[in-house]
Amino acid sequence: MNNTQTTAHTNIALIKYWGKKDSQLRLPYNDSLSLTLDGYYTTTSTKFIDQADDQIWLNQKPAPLAFATRVQHFLDYVRQLNHSKQAILVQTDNHVPTAAGLASSASGFAALAGSLNYLFQMHLDLKTLSILARHGSGSATRSIFGGFVRWYHGHDDQSSFAEEIDGADQMPLRIISVVFSDQPKKISSTKGMQQAVSTSPFYRTWPTTVQQDLTAMLQAIKQRDLEQIGLIAQNNALAMHALNWTARPAFSYFTMDTIHLLTSLNELRQKGYLAYATIDAGPNVKVLTSTSDAAFVQQYLYQNYPQATTTFLKPGPGIKKTVL
Ligand code: DP6
Repeated sequence: MNNTQTTAHTNIALIKYWGKKDSQLRLPYNDSLSLTLDGYYTTTSTKFIDQADDQIWLNQKPAPLAFATRVQHFLDYVRQLNHSKQAILVQTDNHVPTAAGLASSASGFAALAGSLNYLFQMHLDLKTLSILARHGSGSATRSIFGGFVRWYHGHDDQSSFAEEIDGADQMPLRIISVVFSDQPKKISSTKGMQQAVSTSPFYRTWPTTVQQDLTAMLQAIKQRDLEQIGLIAQNNALAMHALNWTARPAFSYFTMDTIHLLTSLNELRQKGYLAYATIDAGPNVKVLTSTSDAAFVQQYLYQNYPQATTTFLKPGPGIKKTVL
């Protein structure tokens, strides 16, 4: 533990980021909007070490190569910004099933950016920190903030940042995460979105879909209309996954469990319960529900999907220094 230790929570996109117009700078084609979640988070500390190479630890063990390489690229970028050549020890504890479509890269790179902000004494404000986190992973841009967060796609490095649009404090919205698999996904989000952008004939309609969904979502949040929030989020998620089904070659993150669960939620809604799905780059589903329906929905999921791990989540906070 040292005084660079920083905690960031993961977020679930209600309006998805799926495609980069500049992969070097990680500038997306469109704005996205997320809800930060309280239950899944990453805690990271960093320190300078007197060695030739960086040392990257994940959950108390030397990190797997792919993870370490990605972190090292980010460290190189931050060193370059700070005219430094010093090796760094990174210790990360991930309280998120890594790479199961649960956006561990979001909380991971947000926490790392936050920790490096202290290590290099950069004194970045939250907006600038979101720009820095974006260089690690797009979804990390949003994990700097709590509640509902909008990432403005922007046109250059400085104009592509996130901002909290609503703290979601009084919002009776609850999320039930249904994890069917904690195995790393076969196609990373970085690769999946590239393939969708370059080969799906429907990609050209995606920015318009997002613009419409985003406008409706902002209105629904303002009106605290949970039914609309759920419906728009589900429609947007399915539109994103349709890009993958229509890519060449086509691919999908869905498994039979994912599809089965979508039909179950439909039945729950017909019975009058609030239950909508959003799905990222993996088979797992996040069910959007209300405080009043959450207990019933979770019990239903527990009984009908005993193979899955269900976790009850609330809106979560922004980035925090863990040790003051
Ligand atoms: C489906 O942020 O993981 O979760 O920028 O390449 O690291 P990179 O991608 P990443 O993509 C997240 C995609 C998504 C939707 C979202 O979070 O908006």
